[in-house]
Amino acid sequence: MTDWPVHGRINGPVVMIGFGSIGRGTLPLIERHFEFDRSRMVVIDPSDADRQLLDERGIAFIHKAVTRDNYRQLLAPLLTTGGGQGFCVNLSVDTSSVAIMEMCRELGALYIDTVAEPWIGFYFDKTLGAAERSNYALRERVLEARRKKPGGTTAVSCCGANPGMVSWFAKRALVNVAADLGLDVSEPETREEWAALAQRAGIKGIHIAERDTQVANFPKPQQVFVNTWSVEGFVSEGLQPAELGWGTHEKWKPDNAHGHETGCGAAIYMLQPGANTRVRSWTPTAQAQYGFLVTHNESISIADYLTVRDSRGEAIYRPTCHYAYHPCNDAVLSLHEMFGQEGRMQADWLILDEDEIVTGIDELGVLLYGHDNNAYWFGSQLSVEETRRIAPYQNATGLQVTSAVLAGMVWALENPEAGIVEADDLDYRRCLEIQMPYLGPVVGRYTDWTPLDRRPGLFPEDLDEHDTWQFRNILVR
Ligand SMILES: NC(=O)c1ccc[n+]([C@@H]2O[C@H](COP(=O)([O-])OP(=O)(O)OC[C@H]3O[C@@H](n4cnc5c(N)ncnc54)[C@H](O)[C@@H]3O)[C@@H](O)[C@H]2O)c1
Repeated sequence: MTDWPVHGRINGPVVMIGFGSIGRGTLPLIERHFEFDRSRMVVIDPSDADRQLLDERGIAFIHKAVTRDNYRQLLAPLLTTGGGQGFCVNLSVDTSSVAIMEMCRELGALYIDTVAEPWIGFYFDKTLGAAERSNYALRERVLEARRKKPGGTTAVSCCGANPGMVSWFAKRALVNVAADLGLDVSEPETREEWAALAQRAGIKGIHIAERDTQVANFPKPQQVFVNTWSVEGFVSEGLQPAELGWGTHEKWKPDNAHGHETGCGAAIYMLQPGANTRVRSWTPTAQAQYGFLVTHNESISIADYLTVRDSRGEAIYRPTCHYAYHPCNDAVLSLHEMFGQEGRMQADWLILDEDEIVTGIDELGVLLYGHDNNAYWFGSQLSVEETRRIAPYQNATGLQVTSAVLAGMVWALENPEAGIVEADDLDYRRCLEIQMPYLGPVVGRYTDWTPLDRRPGLFPEDLDEHDTWQFRNILVR
């Protein structure tokens, strides 16, 4: 496509926090799809590694970390000077999403991020218990901010690929599964209707099932953590407890699993790091595969969104929902190396860019399982080759994220008074319409794979052979 559509106008300043792999890739999409005043854009990052991209364009750069102590003083003038409605695009690590989002809303500036991020130190704070270090806790803070101040200026929480786009895929997949089951349904309009549809379709669970096949043009060096997106982000979330939205059909729980006393109640966590927790899953390219059950906001938000409650508020239906992530092979080796040294991260790290990657795709989608047609994967199979052709400064993983940021920004501009929202709350059709040109092949595939295939094998196993889609059968033990 050469005639890229302009989706809207940002009439105030644009403040981008963080200019790493995602910030760098989001910049050309903002330039391509919005009218805005470049002289009123500013990027803030303590690293100036890619500053040249900004200098070339005449975009201001502030070489600083946003911190608990300076964020108000630093950001408030940037978001308000010169009039119009400011837009804060938070693509950093180690900055509190809730704090910055609340401030933006006070100022009337739009806000978007891709993760419910805490201030620096949170992920590795040994004084915090596992429940406090969970994504459940981080998400509850966002929900609390919404309860305290409903409505008002739009702030889009957790709108990348996942969390983000996969919530839109889950809706599309659910509509497709329901149609193929012959259910006579019109498209749901409310959260309650979506949850009721998932229940009627008999969805027992949803994997965010991903296979990243991107390979570098050099072998992974010893003691270097290699990934296709933020290494700091991946290591932080990978060392959080494994967490999953907990379905009402589950009959068995791991011994080290715990629930939460307060909040939405949609998830449990395990007393072990997610990046060292494997689950069985399926994607079209990999077919059956092991993925890591890394905690993610969408595992909880999708499960919460699709919960059906009775008149007393008790959950009577909820799908299990979790990540089943096979990152690029170099990242799998990197995790193996890191956990081999008791979770101490390698001294060096590297995010593979589009020129270092020879070939490969990021196959990212949702696997809806347990219904009468067994299981259905729906997602994007974007290749690095296509990515190079359609958008600069990023690999396939990056473009799935940045195009979701783009979609969330468009939605916010079109719905500026929606309050704090998650990807599940947005109009999934509109968001996918904006994102689709950037996703490569987007396909739906049924599979007859189940987590009981070829099991038990040569050794006895603790299985539930009568109830195929139990987490007991999915978790690798
Ligand atoms: N939802 C999704 O699908 C998704 C996917 C990928 C990344 N992410 C998230 O997006 C964020 C960015 O990812 P990335 O791959 O670009 O990471 P990255 O590590 O490449 O970049 C992060 C940037 O933040 C900067 N930074 C660090 N501390 C900062 C501070 N205090 N103030 C301002 N900037 C600071 C770093 O210098 C770096 O340039 C991460 O939080 C990551 O978890 C979300």
